[in-house]
Amino acid sequence: MELLEAIKGRRSIHEYKEEKVDKEVLERIFNKASWAPNHRMKEPWQIRLYQDKGKAAYAEAVMESYRRQGFFDGYDVNKTLRLEQGIRDFLLNIPHHALIYMERDEDIRKFEEDYAAVCAYIQNVQLLAWEAGVGVLWTTSPYLHDVQFSEAIELDSRRYKLVSVLQMGYPKRIPKPKVRTPIQQKLDLCDGNEKS
Ligand SMILES: Cc1cc2nc3c(=O)[nH]c(=O)nc-3n(C[C@H](O)[C@H](O)[C@H](O)COP(=O)(O)O)c2cc1C
Repeated sequence: MELLEAIKGRRSIHEYKEEKVDKEVLERIFNKASWAPNHRMKEPWQIRLYQDKGKAAYAEAVMESYRRQGFFDGYDVNKTLRLEQGIRDFLLNIPHHALIYMERDEDIRKFEEDYAAVCAYIQNVQLLAWEAGVGVLWTTSPYLHDVQFSEAIELDSRRYKLVSVLQMGYPKRIPKPKVRTPIQQKLDLCDGNEKS
């Protein structure tokens, strides 16, 4: 696949087929994505892949975080149960959830370098997945900042920053492209010449 075709053709995927992606295909994507730029060759990305029966505990931890954050407040018991079941089913129907996290560097500059490298890694994953016919949704939900969520999934939040959960699987539906702004509206050319 041409680079531009992948960059422009990739869409964030919200609906997935039931079929799982083979472990080898996912490993190939995660492995090739490691060619992302990263300062000091720290390769700061870490991945935890929830799938099959492993999704249940993850989905429960998400649900508990939503409860703590008052997501269900104000609804009666039946409505709350229906909402919870809806979210649980939604999460369990996604074939793979790849939690992307990184070790926190105490030096803010290095922390930012690492975070930027992990984001470059994630975009590589998205493009490589797209080339392999695999859809991804890059998510940053509030539970990634919930210390108790980290505890529930047994990751020490003082040591690790949760960057994203990538929902992954074969797309059931590919959304229409969202128009981008022509870059001339964002580009200031500073070449020493007078503006005409
Ligand atoms: C850092 C980051 C966080 C995102 N978080 C979410 C999210 O939590 N939920 C969601 O539906 N999409 C999320 N997205 C996807 C964007 O909404 C999506 O990229 C945007 O709408 C453009 O659509 P496209 O990727 O199909 O071109 C996120 C994207 C980025 C880069």
